[in-house]
Amino acid sequence: MTSAVAVDLHVSIGALRLRNPILAASGTFGYGLEFAHLIDLNRLGGFVTKGLSREPIEGAPAPRLYPTPSGMLNAVGLQNVGVRAFVAEKLPVLRKIDTAVIANVFGYSLEDYVEVIRVLEDAEGLAAYELNVSCPNVKKGGMQFGSDPALIAEVVGAARKAATKRPLWVKLSPLVTDIGLIARAAEGAGADALTVANTYPAMAVNVRTQKSRLGNQTGGLSGPAIKPITLRLVWEARKAVRIPIIGLGGIETVEDVLEYLAVGGSAVQVGTASFTDPRVSQRLVEGLEKALFEAKMFTVNEIRDKFIAENG
Ligand SMILES: Cc1cc2nc3c(=O)[nH]c(=O)nc-3n(C[C@H](O)[C@H](O)[C@H](O)COP(=O)(O)O)c2cc1C
Repeated sequence: MTSAVAVDLHVSIGALRLRNPILAASGTFGYGLEFAHLIDLNRLGGFVTKGLSREPIEGAPAPRLYPTPSGMLNAVGLQNVGVRAFVAEKLPVLRKIDTAVIANVFGYSLEDYVEVIRVLEDAEGLAAYELNVSCPNVKKGGMQFGSDPALIAEVVGAARKAATKRPLWVKLSPLVTDIGLIARAAEGAGADALTVANTYPAMAVNVRTQKSRLGNQTGGLSGPAIKPITLRLVWEARKAVRIPIIGLGGIETVEDVLEYLAVGGSAVQVGTASFTDPRVSQRLVEGLEKALFEAKMFTVNEIRDKFIAENG
């Protein structure tokens, strides 16, 4: 018997069934199409698009990326083509691909989020929405939506009303005092799943030039450096809610994937690792199948069930 027939990699994120639990993360995989000549997109569990906003955004000044020990800083400034151009130009091509495409949505006000979803609701070819709530709310003095339970409930509630056609995932900020509180607020307002988590606000400076290493001065830290911190957030969030959790932060190897699944992730996303190896997500699908077969586990959920039985 070969591993291909013995191991069932399918996972369910609420009503959405994915071929396997490996997705490519928002902002690190373009609109998916950029990777079509490098990997077989149909082998992935799915991918999340670059964040989409109401209007096109040019983004932050260069430099936008800076390597750090075991990680990377980025300040891309949420550059994107805008939701209408995405629907007109990218979605028609994406529809030909047989994998789950999740649209990452962001805004600087409640109305922005609702408008982006409204435009996407009229289009075919998406599997779910992922709400990025790590954005400053311009109407509330720049406070992040994702760090206040009342604000998160408000934005998720409004998005939920607009998103009648598709599941709504909410991508949490890691910069919170109590992830359980935030996770429960999102669940209570109608989220179908949580993505845990985004990058960690950070900075790097060049003392010789007396300048920040990033054009935007500060940015977000990602990569292996954040993995142990985010792993705990997934563990804590899982204890707080019943909806599925998608874990991400610093995943590079099959071992990393297994760790996120063990602490309660129903699926994972791969971000920064795609910069050094654009084929990493497909490689991880193949590696996960092999690893499960060797461990004599035949479904993905067995990893979590085993770990939770041991650790509560
Ligand atoms: C260059 C870059 C751009 C990103 N853009 C977005 C984005 O548009 N929306 C979003 O929700 N997350 C964005 N992220 C965050 C990633 O999706 C992910 O949450 C984070 O990088 C942690 O995962 P990683 O350590 O595997 O990269 C971006 C990350 C990077 C490195």
